[in-house]
Amino acid sequence: MAKTLNVGLIGYGFMGRTHSNAYRKVNNFFDLEYRPVLKTVCGLVEEEAKAFAEKWGYESYGTNWRQVIEDPNIDLVDICVPNNLHAEIAIAAAEAGKAILCEKPLALNVAQGKQMVEAVEKAGVANLVSFNYRRVPAVTLAKILIEEGRLGKIFHYRANFLQDWTISADVPQGGMATWRLDVKAAGSGVTGDLLAHCIDTAMWQNGPITQVNATTETFVKQRKHAETGKVEPVGIDDACIFMCRFENGSLGNFESTRYARGHKALYTFEVNGEHASIAWDLHDLHRLSWFDHRDEGKLRGWRSIHVTDHGGEHPYMDKWWVPGLQIGYEHTFVHQIADFLEGLAEGETVHPTFADALETQKVCEAVLLSAREGRWVDVQSVG
Ligand SMILES: NC(=O)c1ccc[n+]([C@@H]2O[C@H](COP(=O)([O-])OP(=O)(O)OC[C@H]3O[C@@H](n4cnc5c(N)ncnc54)[C@H](O)[C@@H]3O)[C@@H](O)[C@H]2O)c1
Repeated sequence: MAKTLNVGLIGYGFMGRTHSNAYRKVNNFFDLEYRPVLKTVCGLVEEEAKAFAEKWGYESYGTNWRQVIEDPNIDLVDICVPNNLHAEIAIAAAEAGKAILCEKPLALNVAQGKQMVEAVEKAGVANLVSFNYRRVPAVTLAKILIEEGRLGKIFHYRANFLQDWTISADVPQGGMATWRLDVKAAGSGVTGDLLAHCIDTAMWQNGPITQVNATTETFVKQRKHAETGKVEPVGIDDACIFMCRFENGSLGNFESTRYARGHKALYTFEVNGEHASIAWDLHDLHRLSWFDHRDEGKLRGWRSIHVTDHGGEHPYMDKWWVPGLQIGYEHTFVHQIADFLEGLAEGETVHPTFADALETQKVCEAVLLSAREGRWVDVQSVG
C-alpha cells in the first residue's frame, strides 16, 4: 500500500496542467513508495480554480496561496506561478516544513535565489526545480555518453531556443497570458525564460560555465500593459546571444529569441568532442544524433539513435511501452515527479535542487550584466 503525499498546487495554467497530469499518471508507470494525492489547487480566479479542480480531480480549490502553505495536511507545495511569486511562496513553504517543487527560473534574480536556497537548507526540506528537459530520455542519454567519456575532450557546446510569438507590436505585456513580457513579473525575457533551460542542461552535461559575453535586444520597445491599459516601456530582452567558457576548457555559444519567424519552440543543442559529436532537437525529442570519428571511414556519418530501448539501455524507457514506441513532452514531467518521489522515499537529494538552479540564475544574471556593460563577466562575481 503506497504512502500518500498530499499536493497543494499553486497556479493552474500551462505548468499547472503538466504537473497535474504527471501526478495523475506517475503511479501507473513507476513503482513508488509514495502516491500523490491532489489535495488542493489555488490560482487567481475562483471560477477557473473550481473548473480546474473538477477537471483534474483536486479535492478543493482556492485563491489564496497562503492557505495552501498553512494547511497542515499539505506535504508538497508545487509552485506554478509567474516568476515574481516564486521566492515569497517558496520561502513561506520552506518555513512551514513542506517539500517544494518550483517551476523555473528559480527566481527573479540571484539575490532572491540565495534567500530561497538559504530557506530550504535551513528548514531541511526536499526541493526540486522544474528544469524538465533534463528528463527527456535522449537528453539524459546525451549526459550519460558525455560522462562516460565517449566524446573525449569536449571542445564546443552550442544551444538555441527559438520562438516567434512576440513579433507583433500588438502583443501586450503583463496580465494573465503575457506576464512573460512584463519585466516586473518575469525578471527578464528570453534569458530567464528559455536560455535558463539551455544553461541548466548544458551545465548538467558539461560542467560549470565560468565566464560569459552577451548581447541582447528588445525589438519592440513599448507595449500596452494588459493591467494598466497604458503603453509602457518594455524591460525584457526579446533576444539574447552569448558566448561563454566552461570550466573544462570548452567554449559555449547560446542563442534565444522570440523573433525567429517559423519557430514555435525549437530547442537544439550540439556538443563536439575530440572523438565524437552529439546533437539533439526538441522537435524530434526521442532521437539523439551521434557522429563517431572512430567508425570505419567507409561507414562514418551521423547516425540517429531512436531512444526507445529497454533493458536499461535508454533512460526511463523501461517504464513505458515496448521498444520502438516513443514518448513526448508531457512524460518529462512524469519523470520529474517519479524521481522526486523516489528521492523522498529514500531520503536522497534529487537534482536540480534550488542550489543547482541558483547556479543557472547566476549565469543568467551574468549574461544580462554583460549585455548591459558590453564586457566579459565572471559568473561567480554576480549577486
Ligand atoms: N518547465 C517549463 O518548461 C516551463 C514552461 C512554461 C512555464 N514555466 C514556468 O512555470 C511558471 C508558470 O508559467 P505558466 O506558463 O504555467 O503560466 P500561466 O500564465 O499559464 O499560469 C500562471 C498561473 O499562476 C496563477 N497566479 C498568478 N498570480 C497568482 C497569485 N498571486 N496567487 C495564486 N496564483 C496566481 C494564475 O492564476 C495562473 O493559473 C513560470 O515560472 C514559468 O517560467 C516552465
